[in-house]
Amino acid sequence: MASIKSFDERRDLVICEETEAVPFAVQHFLETASSAIRVHGQFVVALSGGSTPKAIFHALLNHKKDLDWSRVKLFWSDERAVPPTSPESNYKMAMDTAFGELVPPSNIFRMFAERDLKTEALEYEALIKSNCTAFDLVMLGMGDDGHTASLFPHTKALEITRALVAPNFIETKNSWRMTLTYEGIHRSRAIIFYVLGANKAPMVHTVLKGPYDYHVHPSQRVGTASNHALWLLDKSAASML
Ligand code: 6PG
Repeated sequence: MASIKSFDERRDLVICEETEAVPFAVQHFLETASSAIRVHGQFVVALSGGSTPKAIFHALLNHKKDLDWSRVKLFWSDERAVPPTSPESNYKMAMDTAFGELVPPSNIFRMFAERDLKTEALEYEALIKSNCTAFDLVMLGMGDDGHTASLFPHTKALEITRALVAPNFIETKNSWRMTLTYEGIHRSRAIIFYVLGANKAPMVHTVLKGPYDYHVHPSQRVGTASNHALWLLDKSAASML
């Protein structure tokens, strides 16, 4: 199995064979969860949206017996302003793919992004704070434009530093989202990006090796000296590094 290496003072990197990436992600999830439950009795994770994590979530179904799932609390890194029944919903994807069979409903905290976003973002922040002093894991993807969660280039949520959660209008999609802010992402003991496939290779190069400008490439700002971001790449996504 590939090994994790330091990339810079804020980020670590692991590059897997294409067939190894999902097993690595599953093992990392289970180890992080088991350790959190052992140390402080629960595992509080913010799930990412998009399509990449779907295979990871599905693979977790093979591990019903490898974790005390009753100690797992699910939050989300972001959500679209759609009902939970919409095919666009990150909540629906996660629940249908795996977590509806793994985690008790009382431990599942979806973002009510289809309601009044300003009110619901404040509610969600209060919910996070009442359940944990920090996430144990924030799971993230990276879009082709370098966005992560719903922190898209040149959007207002990029500049919000005093809240963990914020509404965000995405002009390029003409749609509203709810998202963890950088503050919300960095309030986590572990942060991991899952970026797979050759189509992501140019942006991976730009984000990790290009000039720093998080307004243009929001994924660049994720990770701090005390809360490193782990970039899990397959060889295709890493092919331009
Ligand atoms: C979303 C996600 C988003 C996603 C990236 C990568 O709501 O769409 O949170 O940030 O992680 O767009 O998506 P893929 O994994 O589908 O490439």
